[in-house]
Amino acid sequence: AALVQPSTDLAGRKVLITAGPTTSPIDAVRYITNHSTGRMGAAMAEEALRRGAEVRYVLGTDKGVVRPVPPRGSAGRLTLVEVTTAEDMAEKALSFLPEVDGVIATAAVLDYRVAVPSANKLKRNAEATSLDMVPSVDVLGALRQAANGQWFLGFAAETDDVEGNGRKKLDGKKLDFLFANPVARAGETSTTGFSVPTNGGTLLRAKGEPVTLPVMSKQDLAKQLWNLIA
Ligand code: CTP
Ligand code: CA
Repeated sequence: AALVQPSTDLAGRKVLITAGPTTSPIDAVRYITNHSTGRMGAAMAEEALRRGAEVRYVLGTDKGVVRPVPPRGSAGRLTLVEVTTAEDMAEKALSFLPEVDGVIATAAVLDYRVAVPSANKLKRNAEATSLDMVPSVDVLGALRQAANGQWFLGFAAETDDVEGNGRKKLDGKKLDFLFANPVARAGETSTTGFSVPTNGGTLLRAKGEPVTLPVMSKQDLAKQLWNLIA
């Protein structure tokens, strides 16, 4: 059998990864979230650890969310913090920013939060109802604003004009890289994006041509993405 030498090209590098969904409470027993599983973030973290990097991992938790499994030989190089809301995620991520060289934002952060969550359980009645929501914090935006030389990789799942919308986000958010992937329209299924083990799309770069990566496992994709950004 061939002896596989572990690659350590990321030794000494420190990266902050945001992952998973955020949540927003409605009342004592209910909340809003999305279909993120945390798999893309876990794959990016595991590949970084395998290649020698240190990882600061801020994970939005919800039922069934996936945590990175530190590969053999990476003991002590993963710091994992669990959060719930976007505001909580921003606070923890900002606290890690000064320690890292780069940021990978895989988290599916809620763009809005419930303005005034109810401390008691809301009761049913026969009336139609609505929820007041206000914008939540832009975690990546806050990190970008506070940055001091770090590089940034964002992720964008789009139902329409994937590359066009991706390019706008790369430029608008002043990122170095943005991986844009198609995601299923409501009620349809897809091999890319949320809640599936595979992904594929286009890595857009501030400097350099876009690179299209076909649908593959999120582990393989993480390897390819690290090869391109390393
Ligand atoms: N992001 C974030 N905080 C937010 C929203 C997005 O950190 N409140 C990050 C995501 O982790 C991702 C990138 O920003 O890396 C792009 O997220 P996306 O939701 O596609 O961007 P938005 O600007 O929120 O645009 P959209 O209106 O398409 O949701
Ligand atoms: Ca969004």
